[in-house]
Amino acid sequence: MTPDVRPHEKLDRAVIFLGPPGAGKGTQAKELARRFSVPHLSTGDMLREHVAQGTSLGQRAQPIMARGDLVSDSIVLRMVADRIERPDCARGFVFDGFPRTVAQAQWLGALLRQHGFKPPLVIHMVIDPGLLLRRITGRRMCKVGGEIYNIYERPPKVAGHCDNDGGELEQRADDREEIVGPRLAAYEKQTAPLAAYYRRLGRLRDIDASKSVDEVAKLIVEVVSAARQP
Ligand code: AP5
Repeated sequence: MTPDVRPHEKLDRAVIFLGPPGAGKGTQAKELARRFSVPHLSTGDMLREHVAQGTSLGQRAQPIMARGDLVSDSIVLRMVADRIERPDCARGFVFDGFPRTVAQAQWLGALLRQHGFKPPLVIHMVIDPGLLLRRITGRRMCKVGGEIYNIYERPPKVAGHCDNDGGELEQRADDREEIVGPRLAAYEKQTAPLAAYYRRLGRLRDIDASKSVDEVAKLIVEVVSAARQP
């Protein structure tokens, strides 16, 4: 992957990954967060953790996620507000899967201003829709550390186990082929309009997400570094 960050490099802002299911947001957001030593905030991962732990929030979210719809703002916004107040977010953070509606984006803009952050940088993952089904149905995630694999594109060294910690790999409940259509429809209707919203604000940067993982990572680092120039 990309070379390690130099010690003086700081992110100092929120970076948002925007793109359809399977575009590679999680793969790239984790890598960028690691590079700048800031938290990777995936609302999907947070919700899946609540579901796995059987919390009341998880019980409300589970049927909604299982059919590929968006979870309500009342659930998601509280979760995000609590998370970015933690001290580890003070030097910036990387959002993956949030915001997902214009209302969420407006709410986030106000929250970032309130916490004294610069306006966010939005990485728009642009991809040929024909690639998405294979990426989604081929995805497997480590039960222990959440590392993302793909049985077609990025297989682990030992089938069914994570290269990092040996954890068992599992398929997400919403990655079944019959749920992919509803998820893509929810994206087109509720989330795709965010691209125009952030483009108008001058915050959007288009990235060709059809390329290899390493090529996409390199493009993202270039865009983020350029945005950090004075
Ligand atoms: P969430 O977990 O956010 O899922 P998503 O947006 O549907 O995105 P995915 O995780 O499916 O894809 P990705 O773009 O991260 O791709 P990845 O890097 O894994 O949300 C799940 C659900 O939670 C939602 O449906 C909703 O119900 C709820 N939710 C979450 N946030 C919400 C919010 N803010 N508001 C309301 N509801 C919310 O890559 C995919 C695969 O491709 C992997 O196998 C990977 O190895 C492979 N891959 C990645 N990049 C490449 C590449 N360049 N070349 C080849 N293969 C690649």
